[in-house]
Amino acid sequence: MSLRDGHDRGPERLLIRDLSQVASPAGRAAPVRGPALGEVDVLEEAYVLCEGGRVARVGPMRELGAIEGDVVELDGRGLSAVPGLVDCHTHACFAGDRVEEFALRAAGASYEELHAAGGGILSTVRATRAAGEDALRAAVERHASWMLRAGTTTFEAKSGYGLDRETELAQLRAIRAAGGVPTWLGAHAVPPEHADAGAAAYVDFLLAEVLAEAAELAEAADVFLERGAFDATQARRYLEGCAAAGLALRLHGDQFTEAGAIPLAIEIGARSVDHLEATGHAGVLALAASDVVGVLLPASALFLGRPLPPARALADAGAAIALATDFNPGSAYCESLPVVLSLACTQLGLSPNEALAACTVNAAHVLARADRKGRIAPGFDADVVLVAADDWRHLAYHLAGPVVHTVVRAGRVACSSRA
Ligand code: NIG
Ligand code: FE
Repeated sequence: MSLRDGHDRGPERLLIRDLSQVASPAGRAAPVRGPALGEVDVLEEAYVLCEGGRVARVGPMRELGAIEGDVVELDGRGLSAVPGLVDCHTHACFAGDRVEEFALRAAGASYEELHAAGGGILSTVRATRAAGEDALRAAVERHASWMLRAGTTTFEAKSGYGLDRETELAQLRAIRAAGGVPTWLGAHAVPPEHADAGAAAYVDFLLAEVLAEAAELAEAADVFLERGAFDATQARRYLEGCAAAGLALRLHGDQFTEAGAIPLAIEIGARSVDHLEATGHAGVLALAASDVVGVLLPASALFLGRPLPPARALADAGAAIALATDFNPGSAYCESLPVVLSLACTQLGLSPNEALAACTVNAAHVLARADRKGRIAPGFDADVVLVAADDWRHLAYHLAGPVVHTVVRAGRVACSSRA
């Protein structure tokens, strides 16, 4: 597969023709849920015409007719098309890795034990503080190139490995510069210099010293509401301050314990609550009755050997759900949404249709981009993944296989196995 220097080049007009299928989740003004979650429109023997970075037309080949003017054609025979994938939850801005910790965990150490001993997130904080902004930008670009090869054309990335003013802001700038949607995760862990004063005082510092500039750079704020990180009172204070500064709200919640994330998310009008591996029946029902999207991260649960989130129960109860990788060096060193799609179908009990909607339209809602991302439809951004099979569901069926043939972003070929 060739990757074009991170810069998409190609024609202004691109006709992807003779596709076996074009599959696009049904679009709604709100996230899809209930039976609508499983609605995917499939056109057989179809084309997609892209102009000026947008989808101009999509339809069956028999209705294509003559195309006037210059147009570059892409042969879609034997391929199927789905919308460019949207990864709405990553921690793609970090320096270093945690391969040593990975080996320790394989030998029996738990993620929480490593964190409590000053490793885990805090070891990535040390590496990220030492890296410098240029290196951070290069890291996000490298990680984004991995995601792109796997079909992700839109990604969110969080800060949260700086935990001081300078590095948190550098992370947000690096994410923006690399084309990501930035989320401020200042409240990810309490850094060593604030350990004595504690989590509440660290939240005071974030709101007083970092928020004003973070709010200029980020689109949303996020908090790790968990035993050993931030409790519900601290999370509320952080998120309310962020909302007052104009940021949308998200939470890491119910990853290890139910500590009040779902009620808080609903009360403060968060866009999403993410993880939910520990969510019980009452939480499922509460989330289903709300407008908050539940973001499920099965790669993270499996990577840590933890219970999986109650995806089927959430979907059946009518909750709006999204899927994401949680790509990060500690709990999910996985940048591939197709792998997550496979896990959703084999481990979470979702159908391929539901899983596709969850990492396209619904993920786009979490990022407030559902008016132009997550579907193949006229007027939408021309972000298209060509799957190397005549049935798009091979994207989920082929576990970690080479199913992504070509990725089109903004109407230009961004990477292809055909080059
Ligand atoms: O979503 N749980 C908190 N944060 C990340 C992990 C970050 C890390 O381990 O570096 C997560 O799993
Ligand atoms: Fe996360």
